[in-house]
Amino acid sequence: MTPEPDTRLVGATAVTPGDSGTADRGTVPAAGDLFDITLRVNRVPYTVRVPARRLLSDCLRHDLKLTGTHVGCEHGVCGACTVLLDGEPVRSCLLLAVTVDGQSVTTMEGCRGPDGGLGPVQRAFMECHGLQCGFCTPGFVTTVTAFLAENPDPTEEQAREAIGGNLCRCTGYQNIVKSVLRAAELIRAADGGAGHLREPGSTNGNGPVTVDGEA
Ligand code: FES
Ligand code: FES
Repeated sequence: MTPEPDTRLVGATAVTPGDSGTADRGTVPAAGDLFDITLRVNRVPYTVRVPARRLLSDCLRHDLKLTGTHVGCEHGVCGACTVLLDGEPVRSCLLLAVTVDGQSVTTMEGCRGPDGGLGPVQRAFMECHGLQCGFCTPGFVTTVTAFLAENPDPTEEQAREAIGGNLCRCTGYQNIVKSVLRAAELIRAADGGAGHLREPGSTNGNGPVTVDGEA
């Protein structure tokens, strides 16, 4: 579907897609320079004005108010901040928002089911007690979502390997492995394979959104 022109403003200043922003991209940006970027987050198109050094994790949490993405270590170790970038899991704490201009991002919120309820991976974590404090859970859900899109019928060993890059301080991982296998069952039972996980449900029915991120 072709995005419609931006009609809604969140923040102080309307931004038209295609504007160059306040900084010249051909020069080395100063800390205070602002850039207009477009992101498609959970199928909702956004235009966001951000400082050059805004982390993708901070852009999602603070500018777009998508606080389902958690930030733990902030240096790429724990996996709590994992989101899907064009379907691939990435550490959003290691990416500058300006470097993903034009790309699609899926967060924990975008892993909901088509009806807005729990998606299969989220439901599996709930059913199998795959979380305790829940701080790590968004990173696991996005990671497992991408994994099952590639491998809808994993072995237990493959499930363990898939979550090897995500840290959990509470569960001991046993129930997370069960959750991965249960999520695979749910997805297969839904007869949609993992297809719908590549196009997760929108979290915003209001169409294109323009955001003026704080400096
Ligand atoms: S917060 Fe990004 S990997 Fe830990
Ligand atoms: S459930 Fe607490 S860190 Fe994983």
